[in-house]
Amino acid sequence: MPSQGCISMTIPLLPFDHKVGGHVSIFRVCPGVICKESSSREIQMYSRMVPALKPFTPYYFGTINVTYNKYNAPHIEFDNNRHVISSVLPKSKLQELLLHQVIDAQATTALHQQPAWPSPNDHLPSPPVSTHIQEESPLASSPELSCDDGEEEEDDDEVNYFSIPSATPYQDPVSSWSPAPTIVPQNSGHASHQQQHYVVIQDLTDGLKRPCILDLKMGTRQYGVDCTPTKMYSQTRKCQDSTSALLGVRICGMQIFKAHTGEIHFENKYSGRKLTAQSFEQHLFDFLHDGNKLLTQHVSMLQRKLKCLLHSISQLPSYRFFGSSLLVIYDGDPCSTSDIEIRMIDFAHSVLDDEMFAGMKDMTYPPSHPDQPDQGYILGLETLLDILNRMQERCD
Ligand SMILES: Nc1ncnc2c1ncn2[C@@H]1O[C@H](COP(=O)(O)OP(=O)(O)OP(=O)(O)O)[C@@H](O)[C@H]1O
Ligand SMILES: [Mg+2]
Repeated sequence: MPSQGCISMTIPLLPFDHKVGGHVSIFRVCPGVICKESSSREIQMYSRMVPALKPFTPYYFGTINVTYNKYNAPHIEFDNNRHVISSVLPKSKLQELLLHQVIDAQATTALHQQPAWPSPNDHLPSPPVSTHIQEESPLASSPELSCDDGEEEEDDDEVNYFSIPSATPYQDPVSSWSPAPTIVPQNSGHASHQQQHYVVIQDLTDGLKRPCILDLKMGTRQYGVDCTPTKMYSQTRKCQDSTSALLGVRICGMQIFKAHTGEIHFENKYSGRKLTAQSFEQHLFDFLHDGNKLLTQHVSMLQRKLKCLLHSISQLPSYRFFGSSLLVIYDGDPCSTSDIEIRMIDFAHSVLDDEMFAGMKDMTYPPSHPDQPDQGYILGLETLLDILNRMQERCD
């Protein structure tokens, strides 16, 4: 326990504003690095990532404990993260990253004499206009409300897709990031509470001027091996009522920049769930179309990367990625030369091979064919490849 009056280092966390799907809290730690509230299963998956999947997953820095103050503003308190800040050598990347933030904090605090905590009337920067993002505002979402049980139950009456003009000058995510970490005296009267475990991972949108993001929920089964019957039924129904059961993939959110109008178009998981096989294909086409032309360089690169992922997943017997997503990301800026990327995310219900054998007897809903690779995921990848092949043929 820190003694009264000593200095405690804290790093405030800001909302992550390129989140197209999902329901749990995700925050920015510093440029290029985000943290996501995670279950022990997800932490295990990241910390023991099979080498074959490392090129297809975000870089993993480690875990942190995030504390919410009485205004529900999230931050990293060093006192609650001794496992990262220990003096053990060699320093981990995460340790270096946090220490770096603190050095900046001292400089910034000395320069600007910022108030340590937001008052109830202060506002954290707002995320872009989007129904699901608004739900995730840290001031609105209480840590107790976020469950670890896959998607939340939903309200179907909301707006599912919309566009906003990108008239507001584009803010570079790196240079606009300025949540100066603060040094808070322990006796400042702001009692912290509510700790949550977070994984610290690479921000896949980092450096992109116009991030175009597609969240594809993969596989034919979304419920975990230890879920409740209610969850199993609700997730099974969502798969049957969407493209998941038939195609092994459904859209869970997307954001596209349309160069011809300068608009950013958003769709959420509710509209993604209503798609048919045909309209799913049209959406994938739209995602890879800037309004003027099909981005053929991305189509062929995406094909290549999906084939590599398919090969890797097919070589992994006894792994399951229930409820996980494949993020497809490219820079919609017409001057960008960066490649389209794919990354697997969201491992809250994944199963590692060793657990498959050791833990099967304790699972409420063990996977069928446990010695096989994840066939539902493979079906989803094959669907995507078929669609891309048809796109290529249309172009030739
Ligand atoms: N490493 C990352 N880099 C950039 N964006 C990310 C990253 N991880 C997640 N996201 C964004 O956050 C969203 C939600 O992520 P994720 O699927 O992990 O959350 P979740 O709440 O567990 O999802 P679900 O509701 O499906 O269980 C994604 O759709 C994506 O837009
Ligand atoms: Mg998800």
